[in-house]
Amino acid sequence: MSYQKKYQTIKQDHIEWFQELLGKEYVMVDMDTRNKYGKDETEDFIFPPDAVLKPSNTGQVSEIMRFCYQHYIPVTPIGARTGLSGGALSLNGGVGLSMERMNCILDIDQKNLQVTVEPGVITQVLQEEVEKVNLYYAPDPSSRGSCFIGGNLAENAGGPRAVKYGVTKDFVLNLEVVLPSGEVIWTGANTLKNSTGYNLTQLMVGSEGTLGIITKAVLKLIPLPKHNLLMLVPFSSAERACEAVSAIFRGGVVPSALEFMERDAIDWTMKYVDANISVSDEVAAHLLIEVDGSDMDLLFKECEQITAIMEEFDCGEIMFADSQAQKDTLWKLRRSVGEAVKANSIYKEEDTVVPRYELPKLLNKVKELGDHYGFKSVCYGHAGDGNLHVNIIKGDLSDDQWENELPLAIEQLFEYTVALGGTLSGEHGIGYVQREYMKIPFGDVHLGIMKRIKEIFDPKGILNPGKIFPTE
Ligand code: LAC
Ligand code: ZN
Repeated sequence: MSYQKKYQTIKQDHIEWFQELLGKEYVMVDMDTRNKYGKDETEDFIFPPDAVLKPSNTGQVSEIMRFCYQHYIPVTPIGARTGLSGGALSLNGGVGLSMERMNCILDIDQKNLQVTVEPGVITQVLQEEVEKVNLYYAPDPSSRGSCFIGGNLAENAGGPRAVKYGVTKDFVLNLEVVLPSGEVIWTGANTLKNSTGYNLTQLMVGSEGTLGIITKAVLKLIPLPKHNLLMLVPFSSAERACEAVSAIFRGGVVPSALEFMERDAIDWTMKYVDANISVSDEVAAHLLIEVDGSDMDLLFKECEQITAIMEEFDCGEIMFADSQAQKDTLWKLRRSVGEAVKANSIYKEEDTVVPRYELPKLLNKVKELGDHYGFKSVCYGHAGDGNLHVNIIKGDLSDDQWENELPLAIEQLFEYTVALGGTLSGEHGIGYVQREYMKIPFGDVHLGIMKRIKEIFDPKGILNPGKIFPTE
């Protein structure tokens, strides 16, 4: 798609038009602001927009899109910039459209168990608000303390609780969307069921801000589970830990979280967050397992079942969190792994996902490729979903190896992942960093359909250009 030639750079009269619409303080062109909004959490990439705009309502977003569409100005929607695939990077400059001022929880509908939010609401803020009335919004990405619902929708974010409750898509009923042309639609209905035409709601979820700008979301809520139990299970073999995962489900238990952490992940994170648990020398990996529900006796029974299964896989001594403080420490450790690895070294993070029984094979392949190409990896993630975050550490690799050889290793990893019935990304999206690998899971026909969908929504290619599709 060669739209790039036609893009207009932002000129002074465009800036004045934006200032007229939003007010001067919400149109920023200084380099500091542009750099700040040109970064997310994806490696060290920086692609600053030419101007950062901060609209406060759907009408303003619509006006901005209408204007940019007319003038061929690229627009990149920006949430909290916690993304891990570069979805919010303004690859072609243009407008960086920050949704941070649209941060209201508009309505908690306790009669229907629904909530209507604007895209700039922080995920944890939403969770805490609905918990006050005993309701639960389950999707919980590790960055939930700072990420926005809008970004979660754009990337179809997951998190530890997805294994029992589902990912962001499973909680979305209806979306208000501003199209690239500036027109506004609602994608569905505020209902739990809907068989009325094509499902534009789910098309929008995970579309990484390439089809439209989500300006409101009606989300499903569920009753808040009253209790949970958390256990940390050590293994002297990481492969055995991965093998134990699918056995839990086959044994009839669906945990509310089932996370895997390699030894390095926990060691590096303990240093990074200054939290300590005792881990003996022979431990190679842990599973962090939570069960939740309303009946304590049942939860204890489930823990007993899980313990028996873990023993079949040669686990070490299981630690049960016996206080809220201990649970908080364990979750803090788990949720900080990504940041800790990033603080430790230049790295790349892959978001591989396979049918969960195949997880041990995937882990072994990562290590085999590491031996072959000479890289170290730190793996962790949502084992219950078969979703393994593979952090590849630059370590002693030369720049040449990092730039030129590693992509071959990653390609082989993805080919293997796809051969196992899996795919490139479970919850981080394709964005900028994985786009060249899209030819691995998809042939020309499939990619062609996706491109035509993009063209229907965005015939001028102004919305979040350069994302998802391989460069030609
Ligand atoms: C996590 C993020 C990186 O699982 O997805 O911590
Ligand atoms: Zn994750």
